[in-house]
Amino acid sequence: MGFNEIPVLNGGFAPIDHELTLDLTDIEGEIPKDLTGMYVRNGPNRRFEAPGRYHWFDGDGMLHAVRFANGKAQYQNRWVMTDSLQEELSAGTALWQGIKDPPRKDRPDMPIKNTSNTDVKYYAGHLVSMWYLGGSVYQCRPDDLSTVGRLPVDPRLVDLPISAHSRVDERTGEFLFFAYGKEAPYMHYGVMDRLGQLKTFMPVQLPGPRLPHDMAITPNYTILHDLPLFYDMDAFAAGRHKLKFHHTLPSRFGVVPRHGTPDQIRWFEANPTYMYHVSNAWEEDGQGGTEIVMTGTPFRLPTDMRGKVDVERFPKMLANLEHDFMFYEWRFNLRTGQTKERVIDDIINQEFPVINSWMQGYKTRYSWNVLMGRSNRAEDPRFCGIARYDLQQDSCTTYHAGVHKWFSEAPFAPKDNWQAEDDGYLVGFMWDDLSQSSWVTIFDAHDVAQGPVCRIRLPQRVPNGFHATWVSGERLARGY
Ligand SMILES: [Fe+2]
Repeated sequence: MGFNEIPVLNGGFAPIDHELTLDLTDIEGEIPKDLTGMYVRNGPNRRFEAPGRYHWFDGDGMLHAVRFANGKAQYQNRWVMTDSLQEELSAGTALWQGIKDPPRKDRPDMPIKNTSNTDVKYYAGHLVSMWYLGGSVYQCRPDDLSTVGRLPVDPRLVDLPISAHSRVDERTGEFLFFAYGKEAPYMHYGVMDRLGQLKTFMPVQLPGPRLPHDMAITPNYTILHDLPLFYDMDAFAAGRHKLKFHHTLPSRFGVVPRHGTPDQIRWFEANPTYMYHVSNAWEEDGQGGTEIVMTGTPFRLPTDMRGKVDVERFPKMLANLEHDFMFYEWRFNLRTGQTKERVIDDIINQEFPVINSWMQGYKTRYSWNVLMGRSNRAEDPRFCGIARYDLQQDSCTTYHAGVHKWFSEAPFAPKDNWQAEDDGYLVGFMWDDLSQSSWVTIFDAHDVAQGPVCRIRLPQRVPNGFHATWVSGERLARGY
């Protein structure tokens, strides 16, 4: 397949080759004056064309930021200068192929390139970028997006593949991480304090290699994922990485005190599924004892003509980026050890949930999720709008604007001096393939259905990407 035939290297996905810093002036509506801070989004942006097949997840990480203050906005983008990208820049050519091609045998330290392209958070005074397959975390300066280098870590963590969706507790400044791998114990969990000191670190023994994508935290507990979509173990033994949905195995969620010990991990079983993203988790005092509640957006499992889960098709859906998700809740009862689970909404196809991040770990009423296009076009994932879910009312309002607008994960940006949980905005990028232009969109988080209250045209296209974060001016000043 030639370069021009690969959907995720074309249109709104095509990589760009300029790093810019520009004040934004092409504004429709008004930038809210009570919006102070920076929106940062990570995503793939291939620097060198590599031979072989390309997957959307392969490109080198690039941060795109929009800084807001006093009703004005500035845009900036920069590559994350990973070790691998620097090696390629020195060589002047690609040195790794993508995840669809064989890993490098001559590089046991990095058989697959750590592109650091997946996730970005604010920790210990820096932006930290992370990769979904796990590797070194990279530190970038919030003021100019330049890469400082690998996040300095305790010697015990030097070779630990820290995963994207490790979490920052912005109330304590702690970095809570998980790392998974192909060798026993298959997972580790730990906590660094806001100065970078490793306070808690433990092995998490799993039955075999797994592919968890996210974790969840409450003030007192961390929830780790062991889901039954992982390697076909016969193929794995032969050195191949074929995914299989092990539909006879339960999903398992490990609940462990934040600063606990391995013997305190309690595993809760639930219906077999696979999920990428958690919306939130919190502790509730139920009549039957403390419950840990977790919400998220697991796949809606494909079924065959008889309504049975199509176990063959499911792994192919993931590989082809065919997206069909629902909104879901799990309750883990610490007294009984039982799990209760329910579908919150299986009508609207929604993913990339965000909350008011100050409320992470505490009961939240709202989750703002991205509407996913239910397209049969493989490898052409379209984020077609925004949903505002109200868990108290069990209701949802949505916004989409036709097939030509491609939205993105839109983190919640609290207003200056916010009071209520939803007192703020949703800030994201939007690609309009009719006008071939990229925009920053600002939604009123109370009312997404009216569409963006402000749109800002960007001077260059921002390739469609992955995770974003909002760092308020207050957090930037505080340093964690
Ligand atoms: Fe993710």
